[in-house]
Amino acid sequence: MPLTNMQATPALLLSVILPLVQAQIPHWGPCPDPQVQPAFNLKKYMGRWFEVSKLPAQFEKGRCIESNFTMKPDGSVRVLSSELLKGEVKTIEGTAVVEDLKQPAKLGVSFSYVLPYTPYWILSTDYETSALVYSCTDVLRLFHVDFAWILGRTRTLPEATINHAKEVFTSSNIDVSRMIMSRQAGCDKE
Ligand SMILES: *[C@@H]1O[C@H](CO)[C@@H](O)[C@H](O)[C@H]1NC(C)=O
Repeated sequence: MPLTNMQATPALLLSVILPLVQAQIPHWGPCPDPQVQPAFNLKKYMGRWFEVSKLPAQFEKGRCIESNFTMKPDGSVRVLSSELLKGEVKTIEGTAVVEDLKQPAKLGVSFSYVLPYTPYWILSTDYETSALVYSCTDVLRLFHVDFAWILGRTRTLPEATINHAKEVFTSSNIDVSRMIMSRQAGCDKE
C-alpha cells in the first residue's frame, strides 16, 4: 500500500473511522472494560489462527480468513492475514505490539504506517484450541464501535465452545447477539 507519503490528516482518519461506524451499530457510552487473559503468554499465542465467528455481521466479502502470527526480533509481532476472495488468496501484513508490558494481553494492531494501532485484546485463550479477541474504539466519548472474534486453531470449533465463548463476551457486557459464523468450508485443497 503506497500510503507512506501521506499524512494522517483528520480527513484520512475520518475515512478510516466512518466505515467502521457504518459497519457496526454503535453503542452509546464508552467501551466496556472486560477482563483479559491473566498472565498472557505472547509466544504461546504465535502461529496460525482461523476466524471461526465474528462481530459485526457485516456483508462478508472474503472467506477462509486466517492469520499467522510470528515474533519479530524486536519483540513486536508480524501478523499475516489472508482470505479467499473470488478464487484468489488476498493477504495483508500488519504489526502487533504490546503497548503496556503490565497488560500483555492488550495488543495493538496496525496494518499501515499511517493508521493508529487498533486495540486487539485477548480476553481468553488456552493457546491450543480457541481465543476470544475484542477490539473497541471510543468515538468522541459519546459512543463506541466494537469488534469481537472467536478464533480457533482449527477452522471450526464445537458448538459448545462457541456458546461458552459467547457467554464470556456477554458477561463482560459485550453484545454478541449479532455474531455470525465465518465461512471456512472448502478452504483446503484436497
Ligand atoms: C507462518 O509464518 C511462519 C514465519 O514466516 C512460517 O514459517 C509458517 O510456515 C507460517 N505458517 C502458515 C500456516 O502459514
